[in-house]
Amino acid sequence: MNTVQTIQELQDRVRTARSVGKRIGCVPTMGALHAGHVSLIEAARVETDFVVVTVFVNPTQFGPGEDLSKYPRPLEADLAKCRDGGVDLVFNPDVATVYPAGDATFVEVPSCSQSLEGAHREGHFRGVATVVLKLFNMVLPDVAYFGQKDYQQQLLIRHMVKDLNVPVEIRTCPTIREPDGLALSSRNIYLSDAERRSALVLSQALKIGHAVCTAQKKAPAEARQAMLELLANHPEVKLDYAVIADANTLAEVDVAVPEMVALIAARVGTTRLIDNMLISTH
Ligand code: PAF
Repeated sequence: MNTVQTIQELQDRVRTARSVGKRIGCVPTMGALHAGHVSLIEAARVETDFVVVTVFVNPTQFGPGEDLSKYPRPLEADLAKCRDGGVDLVFNPDVATVYPAGDATFVEVPSCSQSLEGAHREGHFRGVATVVLKLFNMVLPDVAYFGQKDYQQQLLIRHMVKDLNVPVEIRTCPTIREPDGLALSSRNIYLSDAERRSALVLSQALKIGHAVCTAQKKAPAEARQAMLELLANHPEVKLDYAVIADANTLAEVDVAVPEMVALIAARVGTTRLIDNMLISTH
């Protein structure tokens, strides 16, 4: 496995791989890799021939007061996980490589960046869309892998790729959870033991929402009510939203549609967590 910092070195190695017919898979990350990222690497290993992992903590997707400066950066441990996962190349650029002085162009994907995370994290999705397009143009992958955990993000990237005719196939891989249901996140390390216990209510609320819509065959409005009732028992969990939405548009639904998604975001202590669960009614 090689680790490179410059776009030139990256593209030389990707070009060499492509010249012998290899399909390029890309797993964009901000590092602090966990089993969720490893599952994306595994999918890329199975489906493509040359796996590039990008490790870059993207400043433009953090709002003022968010955790950019304290975001975990365990590079050596990340490289070990990449090596163990059979990654071919790690691209670990510095900020000036991705955003050189004078860089002033951004990507906006209005169709799905206004609501939910977009409403609570101003400018977040502009930063995500911009860096992902930049990384795609640097790596030039055939396929790129994202986690369902960041549901709105993967939908936004799908819209961007379609709207801008970016020739990259997007794969979304299932959320990886701890045995007790907590969705894996690089931010879970911020949680104290008590906060971690409280955080379990997020996945529990999603399961209730799912069960009310599927096993009980009730309307999403009732499912949302059941989620809110559970969350009300946990005042230490500061809810940003708990909704049931159309899985393709993210428009909130009161009446069932075939493909829905329950989405939740809350602050536990100082840590903001998100999670979601797909709900299919056919
Ligand atoms: O999901 C992430 O880790 C980031 O948002 C991404 C896609 C790597 C862009 O910085």
